[in-house]
Formats: sequence, structure tokens, C-alpha cells
Amino acid sequence: MHHGGWMRLLSLRMPGSLLLQLLLLLFSCEIHATLERGTFVSREEYYRRINADNTNEERLYLENCAQSSDTGHCSLAIDNQIIQEWTQCSSTASETQPWWNAFLETPAYVSKVVIHTAPLPDAAMQSALNQFIIYAGGTACYRHNAAASFSSRSFPCDVFTDFIELSSDRKDAVMSLCEVEVYGKALAFQELENGAAEIALNYCSSSVDWQLNICKHAFDRNFAVFNGEHGKKCLDIPSDKSAEEAWMRAYFKESALVKHVKLFNRMDKCCKNSLNHFTLHINYYKCLDHNDANPFVTKIFNCTRFGQHVQVVSVPGAGLHLCQLQVFGYSTLLRPKELQKYIGCYKDNPKQPDLEQLVSLTFMSISKCHRMCKRLNKLYFGLQNGRLCYCGNKFGRYGEAKEPKACDKRCIYSKSKRCGGHYQNSVYEIIL
Ligand SMILES: *[C@@H]1O[C@H](CO)[C@@H](O)[C@H](O)[C@H]1NC(C)=O
Repeated sequence: MHHGGWMRLLSLRMPGSLLLQLLLLLFSCEIHATLERGTFVSREEYYRRINADNTNEERLYLENCAQSSDTGHCSLAIDNQIIQEWTQCSSTASETQPWWNAFLETPAYVSKVVIHTAPLPDAAMQSALNQFIIYAGGTACYRHNAAASFSSRSFPCDVFTDFIELSSDRKDAVMSLCEVEVYGKALAFQELENGAAEIALNYCSSSVDWQLNICKHAFDRNFAVFNGEHGKKCLDIPSDKSAEEAWMRAYFKESALVKHVKLFNRMDKCCKNSLNHFTLHINYYKCLDHNDANPFVTKIFNCTRFGQHVQVVSVPGAGLHLCQLQVFGYSTLLRPKELQKYIGCYKDNPKQPDLEQLVSLTFMSISKCHRMCKRLNKLYFGLQNGRLCYCGNKFGRYGEAKEPKACDKRCIYSKSKRCGGHYQNSVYEIIL
């Protein structure tokens, strides 16, 4: 991400050298949002996004614990007493892959998990905590593997979740926990007068999407329940003899507290019974097991869970037919990555650009141009002809151009917005 090289390049004056333009084309693919899929997010960025006015971590409380076997009660690990003696701690039997888990009282950004243990009473016992994984909301956030036992230790986590699980791969091992403490910040949710609202979805996957890009058919907001109706398709994973489960997963734009999931069945003769039996999962945790001999056309399923994705899973081997999926609930209240105000359409002259600094010639999104200009500490940015990105501290020397005829190019990634025109900039003010 942090290429001193391209920052220096960007600060050179454009237009000019073709070489420079080519270099910019090459480098522009490195300029991406920090919070997009699969990229590292720093702790500072988490705190900025959850709008924390201070970065002191709060203690977050756990409840509703469970563990793989109950030889010592799981709640001894969340009784708010750190007494590092075997009898005062939760413990599983000596077994294969022991685990312990608990829910957070409220969904939160978790920054760390602190674990207190006690010496095991028998030298022959093996501690599962020498090798374990912290799972938070279905993703592994820390893997610990050490020869020696610890007494108290803090593990970084960095995740939005409402659930923590400690899980060991060991055989014949005891998981004994005197106290599990979680730190971070509780998340805020959008307040909605009318209750749950539709949650924006970002992308999808399915059990066969590595072969066929078909999950999009349950994701395209075409609510027809007969395949081929209005020329649109449903997601269709045929049944087969293998005992594989067919599934479809939809990822949310932001983490959300889900309340309901609405499914649109495929009502053709072939397929209408495919949703008579399925399970529904939020971040891999099953919240519903549907079994009904009668097919439904559309149906709303209740499921209150916090997470980043919802998954519909078929009975093994049965296939899956699903025309559309909608999710309702409360979105996590996060500060936007960037905030801009549209100012207007302004004429330009390539000999002396109105906004002084051209930073990219590749196809641009509003947010990408925004971020590039923000990094250069500029006050304004302008998109021209659907692809150029200019940054500057003043604009308007060639006057305003009249919309809607001027600045008539639509942006590639958000077609409802304008991205300039021929020698015309759609100018935005950088607010955040
Ligand atoms: C789902 O929740 C709503 C309230 O949000 C309730 O009216 C409805 O009866 C519930 N449905 C089922 C099947 O539990």
C-alpha cells in the first residue's frame, strides 16, 4: 500500500511524458480501499470506522457459554473472578479437539482476548491451550501454538463479532479456563423507527461458483419465482448422487444484526420442493432448520444473529434452487470511509487544467479519485470524461458548465452518478 515511489510520481506535474502516464496506469491498480475484501485493516482504522472518541479499550462481557464436555462448569471462565486454581476454573474432559465458547452481551469490535489459566492437577494431563485457535464470528482471529504453557496471556483479535470460541486441535487434551476476558468497543446500530430495514448485500458465492458464476441469479434483485421469467434466471444447483451440500452465501456491505431473511423459491415443477428442507446460517452459525412438506413461494424466516454473511444450505445431495434472497435487520453504524459533497460541473482546458494535478488516466470511481486526492491533501477532486481524476485546491477559472447536457458521462462503478464530460469536470469537495 505505502509506495513512496508512486506518491512521488503523483506529485510530479502532468500532463507530459507518456512514460509517466504508463507508469500511472500500472500503479493505479495498487490504490484501493483499506476495507475491501481480504485486505489488512489497522487497529487505528477500526477505531476510526466505529467512530470511537477514544481508543481506550472497554471490557466486554460474555454470557451463554458452552464447552465440549462439562466436567467443570463453563461459566467459571466468565464469573469475573481471576482465581488461578484448578478447582476455580472451567475444564473439559481430556478429549480430542476440546472447545469452549460464549456470546458477547452485545456485538462489538473485539481488539483482544485475555486468557487466564491454572496449572493442571495431574502431570499426565495435556493442556489444550498449548495449541488452540480463537474463532470470532466464524473466522480464525488468532492461532496459538507453543511448547510451554502460559498463566495469563493477551491475544490480539481485530474483528467485529458477537461470539468467541476457543478450539483446540489436540488429542487427549484438557481445556481449562479460569477467566476469559474480552476487550474492544461495543458497536452501535442504525436506529430505525419502522424496525428492521433491508441490508445491502455486497457479493455472493455458492458451492459451485468455482465452476459457474451462478450465485448472482439469487442476488440480482429480480424477484420472479419462475425460472426464465422476464429473461432472468434463478440460482440452480442440480441434485447429484454425491453427498455434498449445495449452498449459497451472500455477504453484507457492512456487518449487521440480522432479524429476518426472505427467500424467493423457484416455483417451476422441477424445483419447487427444493426449499422444503434447508438450514440457514449467519457467519456459519446455524440459526434455523426449515422442514415443511409444502413448498412456499416466498417466505420470511426469523433469525436474530450478528454477522457479515448469510448462507442457505441444502440437504446433502439435494441441490438448491433459489430465485432471490433478501436480508433485513440493523446495519452497524460505521463512519464512512470517505465523505464528499458534489459541487457542480466545471469547464476545463487541457493546456492548463482547472484542478491542477492529474493523478490518473485509468477508469475511475468517485471514491478512488477521492482517496487519491485526499492523500495529496487537496480540498477538491474532479472526474473528467468518465475516467480522468484531477486534484486541486481551487477550481472554476473557466466557469461553470450547464448540466444536464454538460458532464454527461456516467461513472463506471456507479451509473447513477456523473463523472464529468469532454473537457468538463464533475467537481467534488473532500469532506472526510
Ligand atoms: C417472526 O418475527 C415476527 C416479529 O418480528 C413475528 O411477528 C413472527 O410471528 C415471527 N415468525 C415466526 C415464524 O416465528
